[in-house]
Amino acid sequence: MMEKRRKVTILDLYAMKERGEKISWLTAYDYPTAQFAEAASMDMILVGDSLGMCVYGYEGTVPVTMDQCIVHSEAVRRAAPTAFVIGDMPFMSYQASDEGAVLNAGRFLKEAGVDAIKLEGGVRVISRIRAILDAGIVVCGHIGLTPQSSGQLGGHKAQGRTVESARLLIEDALAIEEAGAQLLLLEAVPPEVARFITGKLSIPVLSIGAGPDCDGQLLIVSDMIGQFQAFTPKFVKKYANVAEVVTNAMKEYIKDVKAGAFPTDEHCYHMLKGEDEKFKDLIKEYE
Ligand code: KIV
Repeated sequence: MMEKRRKVTILDLYAMKERGEKISWLTAYDYPTAQFAEAASMDMILVGDSLGMCVYGYEGTVPVTMDQCIVHSEAVRRAAPTAFVIGDMPFMSYQASDEGAVLNAGRFLKEAGVDAIKLEGGVRVISRIRAILDAGIVVCGHIGLTPQSSGQLGGHKAQGRTVESARLLIEDALAIEEAGAQLLLLEAVPPEVARFITGKLSIPVLSIGAGPDCDGQLLIVSDMIGQFQAFTPKFVKKYANVAEVVTNAMKEYIKDVKAGAFPTDEHCYHMLKGEDEKFKDLIKEYE
């Protein structure tokens, strides 16, 4: 029998960086998907605000609310008791004040039972990071392409592609580690910049579109299994085509329903032994 996995902790993630074992990280937004990730022994799960696009069909992450993030994080936590689960702070849950940031980060722990929270930004959110850490909450920073501020970045564009922009990223990364954050995510950053930051920092540095040399990799599950169809970022590798599989299954179902080929006898509940004769009598009462 397969041994049940022990809960993954922040210390396990540090140890993985130390011994050079790559960390696997995937988003999940619902109970069944998180069950699959848990069964696959995924090290970390992010309940990303990408749920705005992947689950709700919004154009971006800005409309996503705290309440939505909490409901989805709760479901994921129930399904994945041993993975290291991170709740993603949605737009305007931390931008206004340190106090607001702490209260909302606290909701993720109290109401959804996650292990850590993630928030976007570098130097400009350092006081938020410090305040959340002071409340005893594990923090994952997120720099590079930060979708909540994609308006300021001029769209969903890779960052750090010029020396000046790379310098800003390095300064952000150093400030985040110095503030005490325990994890850092780099999104859409050239591999050479990501490699330098990963080597420079002692905390685990994860990549989504930041090349192979970070301490681990993150993908959005809906991209990775071929479910999200609006667009596919360059850094995605598709491991399945769920959209095709599910659409084909639905087409087959429609065909069977229209042709009367479903349901067949094997899908029916028959009357209990002896009841079928009595049922014939019952029908007669209505004739
Ligand atoms: O919301 C999310 O899934 C994210 C990733 C894009 C990094 O923040």
